[in-house]
Amino acid sequence: MGYKVLDHPLISHKLTIMRKEDTSTKDFRENLDEIAGLMAYEISRDLETEDIEIKTPLKVTTKKKLAEEIILVPILRAGLGMVDGIRALIPNAKIGHIGVYRDEETFEAKEYFNKLPESIADAYVMVLDPMLATGVSANAALDMIKAAGAKKIKLVCLVGVMQGIEAVNKKHPDVEIVLAALDEKLDENNYIVPGLGDAGDRLFGTK
Ligand code: URA
Repeated sequence: MGYKVLDHPLISHKLTIMRKEDTSTKDFRENLDEIAGLMAYEISRDLETEDIEIKTPLKVTTKKKLAEEIILVPILRAGLGMVDGIRALIPNAKIGHIGVYRDEETFEAKEYFNKLPESIADAYVMVLDPMLATGVSANAALDMIKAAGAKKIKLVCLVGVMQGIEAVNKKHPDVEIVLAALDEKLDENNYIVPGLGDAGDRLFGTK
């Protein structure tokens, strides 16, 4: 399914703020929130709608409503920072959680939490992770989400590199990846360069 970079001046501006080393935890979190909302607005263009009959103060008319249930699945922990911004636009979205961490020595994904809504099989699922680096965590999360029955899945990331995109495209060709920016490369510790550092630490102020 490939990938798409959302080239939008507001997203680029806010992402530049997030990238700066001296940006505070508060500003990092607020900008992540806002970018996630802007991305969801763009992505949700392809959501299906259905007609319903309603009554305005003036007449009965047929108008559109969302036809699909939407489920957000943040990959813990940095993905949590994208939930509120999207939920502000899609307040009825259900939320699942996937816990995957990157083993710092082997770089393999380790699963530690998996709680997904029961209705996931028929839902439109947005998997949230700010950073798409090697793609190992994303692939592990997508395996877990598909094992629960999900079929219609988008992977929503802030910053990615081609290595991660190719790894996900190879293992999950049916999943479209949507990014706010495509960066240069990974460094020797698999951090994205220029990137924004450790998204979880910056979001939660843990370092
Ligand atoms: N995860 C992060 O938080 N940052 C990176 O650069 C890569 C993975």
